[in-house]
Amino acid sequence: MNIVLLGAPGAGKGTQAAKLVEEFGTAHISTGDMLRAAVKAGTDLGKQAKKYMDAGDLVPDDVIIGLVLDRLQEPDADNGFILDGFPRTTAQAVALDAELGKVQRPLDAALLIDVQPEVIVKRLTSRRMCKECGYIGSVADEKCPKCGGEMYQRDDDNEETVRNRLDVYQKSTAPLIDYYRGSELLVTIDGDRDPNVVYADVKKALGL
Ligand code: AP5
Ligand code: MG
Repeated sequence: MNIVLLGAPGAGKGTQAAKLVEEFGTAHISTGDMLRAAVKAGTDLGKQAKKYMDAGDLVPDDVIIGLVLDRLQEPDADNGFILDGFPRTTAQAVALDAELGKVQRPLDAALLIDVQPEVIVKRLTSRRMCKECGYIGSVADEKCPKCGGEMYQRDDDNEETVRNRLDVYQKSTAPLIDYYRGSELLVTIDGDRDPNVVYADVKKALGL
């Protein structure tokens, strides 16, 4: 499967990707996770990206496009990939199409996980993640239920930044919904239901 997960911040892209990875072992390419790893490691990329991420703004296209196109060449992506958080602008979608066309690995689907903004603000301000394994949980998880690791709150999960991320999504990323509808790849899934119910629809949409 070669798929793109679309959806607002907090729609559940990472949650659904984790389920697909667990069941099918597909390569999960999350630009947000890659950038957070770069920030943690203190690389040049991380230093450059941090100010955009902390404000909830997009990291410039040229930086992100290069990062993803390199990542797609790693061997684990040969058997399929789940792009999570990329593309986020029309320029990114066009660059992705050009690259996938060149290597003859077309997308199978663009899944839009649809959730209303007010639900998202609540979800993101109460989200907590595991420092050790990246498990996505909530403030109710004192320790990671998967590995027992320490849970933390992402720097961009405060209400002010979340609202900016939602504005940025509407302005820059929502237009991609029409972009993928035009190429008949778009499947919209109601993301405001139990995560396992959402996952059943994700699999149905992918014919799995
Ligand atoms: P990124 O890390 O991609 O963040 P995002 O798009 O804002 O999305 P999130 O990771 O916040 O949400 P999600 O949809 O994965 O939801 P999750 O499953 O965690 O990007 C961060 C930043 O990096 C950007 O702001 C930007 O600066 C930069 N960046 C990244 N990619 C870029 C790009 N391509 N171009 C430019 N800049 C880029 O779930 C959220 C919460 O809800 C969790 O607590 C979870 O447990 C809960 N939840 C999930 N599903 C359900 C459900 N069905 N019901 C109830 N709760 C649920
Ligand atoms: Mg995510």
